[in-house]
Amino acid sequence: MLCLGIESSCDDTGLALVEDGCVAGAVLASQTDAHAIFGGVVPELASREHFRLIGPLFDILLRRSGAKPQDIDLIAATRGPGLLGSLLVGMAFAKALALGLDRPLLGINHLHAHLLSAGIDNKLIFPSVGLIISGGHTELYLMEAADKFTRLGRTLDDAAGEVFDKAGNFCGLAYPAGRRIDELARQGQPGRLKLPLPYLKNENLDFSFSGLKTAAINCARAQGIDAVHPDLPDFCLALNTAVAETLCAKTGRALDLYPRIKTLYVAGGVAANSQIRTALAELMAKRGGQAIAPALPLCMDNGAMIAYAGWLLGEQGFRHGLEVESIPRGRPMPEDMILVS
Ligand code: KG4
Ligand code: ZN
Repeated sequence: MLCLGIESSCDDTGLALVEDGCVAGAVLASQTDAHAIFGGVVPELASREHFRLIGPLFDILLRRSGAKPQDIDLIAATRGPGLLGSLLVGMAFAKALALGLDRPLLGINHLHAHLLSAGIDNKLIFPSVGLIISGGHTELYLMEAADKFTRLGRTLDDAAGEVFDKAGNFCGLAYPAGRRIDELARQGQPGRLKLPLPYLKNENLDFSFSGLKTAAINCARAQGIDAVHPDLPDFCLALNTAVAETLCAKTGRALDLYPRIKTLYVAGGVAANSQIRTALAELMAKRGGQAIAPALPLCMDNGAMIAYAGWLLGEQGFRHGLEVESIPRGRPMPEDMILVS
């Protein structure tokens, strides 16, 4: 089965083809530069950029992969969560193709697709625990099958990536600041600056990063840290450490509930963070298990993860009708896939 995947939930337009579980072609257009001057994603601008880019990207994908539109067996598009205007562009394009080519359609949960993308390079293991850490989401899942995810915890306010982006922005680092903070932290001296670990004195698996964001900005203000300050690497290390330790604490708690689970999947843009990857790998090694994160390009939003999730679920017979809705962030995702024989 050849599955076309379309990702347009935020500020990256990604299209890819997956055939029999392998990526047969992928194209990605990042809008980062268009949004950077605003210090964050501007939803209206994002939708217009998706609308401008999606058609030409589809042509480039076909040209590069040598596939013809008629070769596509299934069309998968991100249905949410994300920015509604952006999601609608990808889904409308997917619906038009499904109608025009007379092929089935599947709406994909963006967060599940992030976690399932580990299957592109490794055989997926179930049951497992999944941790999504991105600019918009921080969530823990029990993963029992490709179509059976139970959310165990989520952020009550800001996502982990938001802490990096906003604290970095305050220090004069360009949006999105996570990668630069990760690089700078490698030159930092451990223990010179310390930030609080947020929302751990409770029994639940939820996160709350808004307090850490404020504490980090207050710390940077008090120390006068800007993009050329000599203590910037120490500040970045303190930020990395606070986020990594908080993620490990709650993920450890989730794993305590399921002692037989030995696999942790980690995905989303913040999963590219070297310190967080190491900390989660150590957490799992201590438990005799392993943390699996997709290759770095697959950690960010991309079309391959949607095409792969579409292929995986499509092979099992899951479909949506043309009435499938796009679901913005904050609205529950309907469980409305249809199983065809
Ligand atoms: O998953 P993603 O590409 O987009 C969504 O938010 O859905 O994640 C982007 C986020 C941004 O907040 C960015 O600063 C962060 O991932 N990020 C990182 C690193 N690379 C990207 N954060 C920490 N360390 C990194 N190396
Ligand atoms: Zn994402």
